[in-house]
Amino acid sequence: MPVGLTYARSMNATCDGNTPTDPSPAGYQTHRGLPPLAGLCGFQEASRPGLSVEESVRRLKRHHYALRRIHGILTARITSEPVYELKMAWSHQAWLCAEQVSALRTRVGEMREPPLGLDKVPHDGLALAFDELQAAPRDLLLLGLYEVIVPALAEAMATHAAAAHPLADQPTVRMLRIALLDLDDLRHYGRKAVSCLVSGDERAASQAGLGVLRRALEAAGGVDGCTRAGAGDAPASLPERLHSARPWRYDPRPQRDGRFPDPYNMGVNAEVFLYDPGQPLDAKVLMMYYKRLREIDVPEMMASILVETPDKPWGYYRDMSRQLWDEARHAMMGEVGFASAGVDWPSRVAVNFTWSLGLNTQLTPKERHAVLYFIEQGLMPRTGKRHEWETALAAGNPLAATFQDFDWADEVLHARIGRDWYVSDMPSPHEAVAYGDACWSKVLMNWERWRSEGLTRHANWWTGAYAEYCERRGVTPDPVAAQYAVSYEAIRADLRDLSAASG
Ligand SMILES: [Fe+2]
Ligand SMILES: [Fe+2]
Ligand SMILES: [Fe+2]
Repeated sequence: MPVGLTYARSMNATCDGNTPTDPSPAGYQTHRGLPPLAGLCGFQEASRPGLSVEESVRRLKRHHYALRRIHGILTARITSEPVYELKMAWSHQAWLCAEQVSALRTRVGEMREPPLGLDKVPHDGLALAFDELQAAPRDLLLLGLYEVIVPALAEAMATHAAAAHPLADQPTVRMLRIALLDLDDLRHYGRKAVSCLVSGDERAASQAGLGVLRRALEAAGGVDGCTRAGAGDAPASLPERLHSARPWRYDPRPQRDGRFPDPYNMGVNAEVFLYDPGQPLDAKVLMMYYKRLREIDVPEMMASILVETPDKPWGYYRDMSRQLWDEARHAMMGEVGFASAGVDWPSRVAVNFTWSLGLNTQLTPKERHAVLYFIEQGLMPRTGKRHEWETALAAGNPLAATFQDFDWADEVLHARIGRDWYVSDMPSPHEAVAYGDACWSKVLMNWERWRSEGLTRHANWWTGAYAEYCERRGVTPDPVAAQYAVSYEAIRADLRDLSAASG
């Protein structure tokens, strides 16, 4: 143990985890048999020494590094991963990691640690393992993350929780227990994802990459640095880089799977429909399901901001990751809406990626954030999110009302995040809005060119989706709604209207 060896030995709280004979508090009792020590543990357990502050902090920093790297790796994959379910799951898991990173940073800051040193790489082997994971093809990413890295991190955290003093270091123990719950979610999902997506042949093809990951972890002594070769053995050397031999580059172009066959389609204007008092309320609910599912483009875009904006305070990444996850949840609320209504969205609805594609490839990260803020603060007036919630209520659709209620609440949070991390960087709130407007104006949405180049026909998918929606519910289609045929071309000049195209 390189750090605090003497003290740790005297406290019997090293990586070895050896403990002395338990001192027994013979005859000692609590008042009327109440649980002792606030219910944390018994006296025998509390009478055993635990890890020192120094050793506990050293391990916390290792967990922190691992979670921060997983957060970054998953975030960076969201945009270019075609499979919708993986985009959603990684949006969730990146946020879980961000929450645990925040908790770890807070705890380290409580443990006599200024300066915190949280940006230091704890070991070259750990860095190499995560670099390899970052650059891995998807099968190797799934296997390496869910079968090697996450289990190793969970084991390190569980060992830490068991070795820490349950009373003296209770805030650490509690934090680790909560983190382990989140890691269990990752492992559970990962097991299923691997069994659904990785064949035996693909697993065999990943063995070389998995070997590099394992050897890199071994060289680092495991995630916590506590696994050592036998006495007298030379420390394990670092393996050669495989996938990370060439510098990794983020791919900003959104990819979609086969359920998004017409990703340039801007043939149905959802906003004009929603604000048309002549359209029936239940049809507006269907259009809102579309608007929600289309929010899949926000995680694709926000991931690019997160990846391409280094050197912000950690709170920026935590807040933006939360917002990214909210947007993914909104997309899934739309998916649930379609499924519950019996509408086969992959064949009936054209969910495009034109917004994330345009922003990711034409604007700087700050310009993208400006556009996001401009759009989201535009959702706040009475005609924005409240209107959608009231529409769902008036339609008598409790599921849609629940979704819109929380969509609205989340967007209020996002406006606050925008004020904290974007507006605060601008000369004034007014200029922040004007800059977002200007940045959005310069994004080229090549409606006509996409059509002339054969990328899309901007087909009116609404007619078929609405017909199926009515058929499933056994109602006669409203003739006005059935004939709706307003595209985004018609309001192309009105950027304020167009700006509502996401959110
Ligand atoms: Fe939002
Ligand atoms: Fe939303
Ligand atoms: Fe949104």
